[in-house]
Amino acid sequence: MSEKKQQVSRRQFLNYTLTGLGGFMAAGMLVPMLRMAVDPVLQESSVGDLANVGISVDDITTEPQRVDWQVTQVDGWYESEVSKTAWVFRNEDDEIQAFSPICKHLGCVVTWEGSDEFPNEFFCPCHDGRYYKDGTNVPGTPPLAPLDVYEQDVENGMLFLGDATPREGA
Ligand code: FES
Repeated sequence: MSEKKQQVSRRQFLNYTLTGLGGFMAAGMLVPMLRMAVDPVLQESSVGDLANVGISVDDITTEPQRVDWQVTQVDGWYESEVSKTAWVFRNEDDEIQAFSPICKHLGCVVTWEGSDEFPNEFFCPCHDGRYYKDGTNVPGTPPLAPLDVYEQDVENGMLFLGDATPREGA
């Protein structure tokens, strides 16, 4: 019996080498592309984080004051600075209140004592919407729900605010 010789021809050797090299190069290109596609999904979203709004709790009085701050919003690959605003004050029980300024009628911006006719109220100039100081809508005016309330926390004497959400039952 003759023994078969297992020999690799020059052509086969080149085929194996080039296939291996091609696969290696393809993997080298695919890995960064896959990482770029999947990475934003794995990143923690900035939504829901509380931000230091730059006001000391000692400076919060019973008079509503407008507080503006910026947060970095991450949406997939897109990162942007978003401006936020709140009306902040202390109620009769000395609790800190932080209301969204977005009118619950059609989304205009409400201001504290924005109308001379209605002192001690939040006022929306778009359709004369009114809210009491506790943020509840005045019956008979266009808004049908109270102003949204910001999630809040206090750290090292500074006020931190998160997302504004509708009140329970609103
Ligand atoms: S948007 Fe505020 S009253 Fe209409």
